[in-house]
Amino acid sequence: MSKETALPDVSFDLPPEEFRRLGHQLIELMIETLEAERSDPVLRPVTGPEIRGLIDEPLPQSGSSIDDIMIQWRDVLSRHSRRHGHPRFFGYVCTSADPLGMLADAMASTVNQLVTAWRSSPPAIEIERLVLRWLDELVGFGANGNGLLVSGGSMANFHGLACAVTQAELHANLPPGSRHRLAVYMSREGHVSMKKAAQLLGLPPDNVRLLDIDEGRRLQTDALRTQLEEDRAAGLIPAAVCVSSGTANTGTIDPLNDVSEICQEYGVWFHIDGSYGAPAVMTKDYAWMAEAFGRADSLSLDPHKWLFAPADAGCVLIRDEEISRRTFTLFSEYTTITQTDPIERFAFFDHGLEMSRRFRGLKVWTILKARGADRIAGVIQHDIDLRRHLDARIDAEHRLEPLGSELSIACFRYVPESEVSDERLNAINQTIVETLIAEGRCYMSPTTLEGRYALRVCIINFRTQREDIDFLVDEVLRIGRDAEGSTG
Ligand SMILES: Cc1ncc(COP(=O)(O)O)c(C=O)c1O
Repeated sequence: MSKETALPDVSFDLPPEEFRRLGHQLIELMIETLEAERSDPVLRPVTGPEIRGLIDEPLPQSGSSIDDIMIQWRDVLSRHSRRHGHPRFFGYVCTSADPLGMLADAMASTVNQLVTAWRSSPPAIEIERLVLRWLDELVGFGANGNGLLVSGGSMANFHGLACAVTQAELHANLPPGSRHRLAVYMSREGHVSMKKAAQLLGLPPDNVRLLDIDEGRRLQTDALRTQLEEDRAAGLIPAAVCVSSGTANTGTIDPLNDVSEICQEYGVWFHIDGSYGAPAVMTKDYAWMAEAFGRADSLSLDPHKWLFAPADAGCVLIRDEEISRRTFTLFSEYTTITQTDPIERFAFFDHGLEMSRRFRGLKVWTILKARGADRIAGVIQHDIDLRRHLDARIDAEHRLEPLGSELSIACFRYVPESEVSDERLNAINQTIVETLIAEGRCYMSPTTLEGRYALRVCIINFRTQREDIDFLVDEVLRIGRDAEGSTG
């Protein structure tokens, strides 16, 4: 080159000193964010336009300072995110994330593995496979960890049902295009992701049989039998029965053992959605669930729920490795495996939908290894004990009516002094939830049970203590009394 031309800067590398400086800055921000999990409001009131206004701008054509961007991480992200690790966050099924999992996630991004096949990521694959064996042992599934880590309960349920459909097609020797003949069964409290999965797998919506529940909100086994008989007589092929070991709505555990027997009798795939509740099997009160877990064909459980992993980390265990292989293996030149050693031949893409996958195993491995199963079981027991404490407080307050509790979820409502219409009762309880959230000192998500607006508390949190439960009850009573006094 005769003339000197400025070469474009094509490297994104950071000089080590700069990386170190930013790393320290990040760690300080992470510490600040975690401290705020205790001291800040659970959620700062903010509007859509306000949040959008804080970040919206045209696509940057040239870069800006990372220090300024980190200020936005603090002022927007850290400040305005809902704090799921707050000791008085009781909404949905969200966990307080183990800080060790956060560090592991940073390391996972650093090694940046795709976790496809052993040949591409030997340690990452082996770590995930070990994690799967540990999770299998932890819940008593007993299939040596066949399965995979996925993004969460929804994908876990999808993979379980996909395998069930394969099995049903094989057994019935169905030609392609016959999925309209398959049916799946669950209670009407079954998670929406299972209904979605069945439909995406090609079953007609009407063939997703949503069965009646008993007074404890459990699937009615008589209704299941009747539906199986009717469907068979009508030429339908039952592909799977899906039960929950802890529904998202009320924590209800379906009659797992009875359903497993029915599945055996009818030769139907037995899927358990343990996305939320399965880890409770480690406690003495729920150890009984292990018997059914040991008989399930597939089981979903989410490390990012009651095993305290930061999102995302779901898991599905599949008993029959051959079925998951048949369901998900498809030939392509670029995925052909030439290794012959059984360990080295392994590929997760032969057992699941994703090709490139996040290295989710690292945070789950780190948490299980650093904390140990006994200590994690102790935290789960603590959460269950807190729910029992809440039950006792509800029972002791004549203004509070229990609406059912199980695992670490309790539902109840405030009932005013004077008799009011059902509509007014619901409105008062809605005001309680909305005021609690607006004031930011507690957070809960409501539900509706047989037309009754219910206050729903879910405790999967290693920071929550008895005083947090007492605080919540006192707040509900205070706001309830105020709402009762207002004309509505
Ligand atoms: C019982 C149950 N199943 C499935 C899911 C879906 O899990 P995810 O949100 O991780 O996809 C949830 C979520 O709360 C759940 O509680």
